[in-house]
Amino acid sequence: MTKRSTETRPLILDCDPGQDDAISLMMALSPNSNLDVRAITVTAGNTSLDKCQRNARLIAEICAQHGGAKDVPIFAGCTAPLHYPLATAEEVHGVEGLDGIEIYEPALPLQDEHAVDAIIRLCRELDEVVLVPTGPLTNIATALTRAPDITSKIAEIVLMGGARSEAGNITPSAEFNIYVDPHAAAIVFNADLPKTVFALDVTHKALIKDTHVDQIAVLNTPMSKILTGMLRSDYAEYDRAKFGTAGTPIHDACTTAYLLRPDVFTFRDVSVQVEADSPIARGHTSVDYWQMTGREMDTKWAIDVDHEGFFDLMIDCISRYPAT
Ligand code: RIB
Ligand code: CA
Repeated sequence: MTKRSTETRPLILDCDPGQDDAISLMMALSPNSNLDVRAITVTAGNTSLDKCQRNARLIAEICAQHGGAKDVPIFAGCTAPLHYPLATAEEVHGVEGLDGIEIYEPALPLQDEHAVDAIIRLCRELDEVVLVPTGPLTNIATALTRAPDITSKIAEIVLMGGARSEAGNITPSAEFNIYVDPHAAAIVFNADLPKTVFALDVTHKALIKDTHVDQIAVLNTPMSKILTGMLRSDYAEYDRAKFGTAGTPIHDACTTAYLLRPDVFTFRDVSVQVEADSPIARGHTSVDYWQMTGREMDTKWAIDVDHEGFFDLMIDCISRYPAT
């Protein structure tokens, strides 16, 4: 078992739940996770902002009810991308954005403060903040644009998005999070701060297979049942059927796995530019892998993952939730 990171930098998780966002949250909020989650901010993406914020509150409430982190404030952010109309992915995640678990209105409240204002406020209040976006980058880009001073307070942006060797999953040349708001993504990738990126190149290697789901089911706890419900839903079949993957890619969980155990991943230093306006290549991440552009190689691009180490980490997090 590789050692868990002992760093406790303050984290802001920006998400669009979505099952893989939800699993990432379940890992990050798990008992004694060592992670210092200061806020969950929500953006539109997999479904509408209204449903994504409901889903984020529902998952956070379930985690808290079963021994996970309590009182993490949740903020709703931008309802649509900077310039394009919102594109969603209900065909992947279900009409409520969270196929596989019972959907109900959680008691856990939504904060009145807008997510962008919360991100700016927390970055100004705290030091060495780590932003962890796993959806379209609209909230993050808006915060960076509205308050350029926070750039110096952000230690790292750890994001799920983009593609190089895996081409795309929403168009032949773009990954969904970057495609939905490429103008926001361009702002983030051009920002003068360290980025760590989990693109399809690595998330298509972090596959949860039926044998893994069976191992999770054997735990037979409330949280393992929540997880297996999602992993045995239509959501879990979508990528397998469309891309022929040998399992379900839990894209967003790669960010949390990295925060818990960085050595589970292998990285290459690159620089990334985003195509925002091309009708064909909208959302394409142009990854300078061979230092051709002269741009600063300020981005750690994940190129490989210890697949069993990733799964061990996921099941370890879920196992930390008590059986009753
Ligand atoms: O392309 C995969 C990404 O798009 C994941 O973050 C998924 O949740 C969706 O937001
Ligand atoms: Ca997501």
